[in-house]
Amino acid sequence: MTTKISKQEFARRRRDLMAQMEPDSIAIVPAAREKIRNRDVEFPFRQDSDFYYLTGFPEPDAVLVLLPGREHGEVVVFCRERDPAMELWNGYRAGPEGVCERYGADDAFPIGDMDEILPGLIEGRERVYYAMGRNADFDRRVMQWINVIRSKVRAGAHPPGEFLDLDHLLHDLRLFKSAAELRIMREAGKISADAHCRAMTFCQPGMIEYQLESEILHEFSRNGARDPAYGTIVGAGANGCILHYRENNTEIRDGDLVLIDAGCELEHYAADITRTFPANGKFSKEQQALYELTLAAQLDAIASIKPGAHWNEAHEVTVRVIAQGLIDLGLLSGELKEVIETETYKQFYMHRAGHWLGMDVHDVGDYKLGGSWRVLEEGMVMTVEPGIYVSPNNTAVGRKWRGIGIRIEDDVAVTKKACEVLTGDVPKAPRDIEKLMRGSRAA
Ligand code: GLY
Ligand code: MN
Ligand code: MN
Repeated sequence: MTTKISKQEFARRRRDLMAQMEPDSIAIVPAAREKIRNRDVEFPFRQDSDFYYLTGFPEPDAVLVLLPGREHGEVVVFCRERDPAMELWNGYRAGPEGVCERYGADDAFPIGDMDEILPGLIEGRERVYYAMGRNADFDRRVMQWINVIRSKVRAGAHPPGEFLDLDHLLHDLRLFKSAAELRIMREAGKISADAHCRAMTFCQPGMIEYQLESEILHEFSRNGARDPAYGTIVGAGANGCILHYRENNTEIRDGDLVLIDAGCELEHYAADITRTFPANGKFSKEQQALYELTLAAQLDAIASIKPGAHWNEAHEVTVRVIAQGLIDLGLLSGELKEVIETETYKQFYMHRAGHWLGMDVHDVGDYKLGGSWRVLEEGMVMTVEPGIYVSPNNTAVGRKWRGIGIRIEDDVAVTKKACEVLTGDVPKAPRDIEKLMRGSRAA
């Protein structure tokens, strides 16, 4: 089974985008740039998701230009030239010829010639599609190219009259995943689920959180997912109540719950899974009560996801289940309606139930259209991740509840009639988690 996007699919994406562009327009999409980590060390390079979605081209210092209807080729790429000395030190480059051969560009030029060539490509087009405001340096360069054309109006040059936001069209395309994208996301989900299982089986009280992080990253990279899709969170005990905890340097104690939020990136697609499990392999009574409640909220939310439901329904389900459960357990007082209206549940459940998922972990795509929540359609992928977090400082609740932090997160694709869970290969029922952990201890 292939987990690659084909050259034909990249071409189809460009065609779909061009078909939606206004007449007489041009789109300009820059690649990501390399960033310095410290002194002369760079961060690992990650291509810009928009650029990659349209090209599959993984190198920095490149720009894609789409020119619908251009006789000499609609797809133009500027990129680094081949250079044996640079390639000897820093790795292979496709060069303009390689970009045409392997990535389907009609025309490609050295990036160093862009200032000379690009104004000529823009000239005569009415509208420029471009992600304005994302990169100040590139914004300035676009304006310089426009000014080159403006300076030649007396010689008959025709500068564009309109700038349009490219994100709007492109991000709506990215919101709907193709069969090939879903195959990759399923595989990313599987690798990430295996990594969570590995962390559960390796966990012992007395370990440091980062030791579980290392098991997670090991499982990702040995399966070809060399990077996580976002910073791995391993929070033991009350650290599980810090939503974006990143220190991962605390000792895991007997009796702690461990919350791990980790997902790999595969072929530029993200997985995003959270599991919470007892460090010693057995939930305490209070831990299990809050865990079962979080799980009920998550399962009900997943059951609500289908074409025709609106984006916010899953969130509303989680709020109802968690608020009622917290009332029943005595952590909240009052009637359900009042708890929801006054939002007192937010001291325990303060985030939303999910987000779009794709090439970016918090993926692109509008959540509302024309002021109303978006209606779900086949091919959309989202996370479902309710949580309950009882602050260690919350003196309004009994001591036994304090410092318990739980989140359960899965990735879900909307199908024709309902939805498919992409991350189901890691247990989440307490007895299944305990069984997995017991098995590893007996071994
Ligand atoms: N891991 C980030 C999130 O769950 O949204
Ligand atoms: Mn998430
Ligand atoms: Mn997450």
